[in-house]
Amino acid sequence: MIYLILGMMVSFLLNMVNNEIEVSNIHIEPTKFVALTFDDGPGPYTDKLLDFLYEYNIVATFYVMGFAVSRREDTFIRTVNLGHEIGNHTWLHENLVDITTEEGIKTYTKTSDLIYNLAGIRPQTARPPFGALDEEVEEMHEYLGYPIILWSVDTRDWETRDAYEIYNETMANISDGSIILMHDIHKSTYEAIRKIIPSLIEMGFGFKTVSDLIGDMQPGNIYRRGN
Ligand code: NI
Repeated sequence: MIYLILGMMVSFLLNMVNNEIEVSNIHIEPTKFVALTFDDGPGPYTDKLLDFLYEYNIVATFYVMGFAVSRREDTFIRTVNLGHEIGNHTWLHENLVDITTEEGIKTYTKTSDLIYNLAGIRPQTARPPFGALDEEVEEMHEYLGYPIILWSVDTRDWETRDAYEIYNETMANISDGSIILMHDIHKSTYEAIRKIIPSLIEMGFGFKTVSDLIGDMQPGNIYRRGN
């Protein structure tokens, strides 16, 4: 009798192992890669977004504002600890074309210093607010050592504030190497990402940080996609 029970237990355990193997067999291996980028945060929805990304084992890039980091230090530190990339998006979303080079250096440096003090890292890339650039601003990025990261897919999430629209805009424009622009300060963006990520995985997409997606970068140069 005891052998029968033991035998049943062994076969039950083997079944569990087999099921696990079956599950891993239907895992879709990505054949193309994109970078999700979230600007202007941390915001009220960043923690929920981080939970969701963790569930899917996905890393993204956060172009944080220094001021927003100062208001949500714990969320920011959590973002770093979860392995996401941090980019510099100025202290208070200044339009760099409209301010002096000295002020531009100050807003980026103040943000980088806060990030360093909280997490011991410094952002390796920057994204100028509004994507606003001129020759002087580009040279300032070169001086600060920042490659300039723009985007190839504008989800227009800040404008529509509608999860369905954000989803459609993303799906209509996505391709291998896309850098996707979103903002983790809107609820609709969080709702959209819950639909976007499973769809992209099903389409064979994987997710990388901006630095991993692009690879070699030069300070002052402009990048809109990974290839
Ligand atoms: Ni922004």
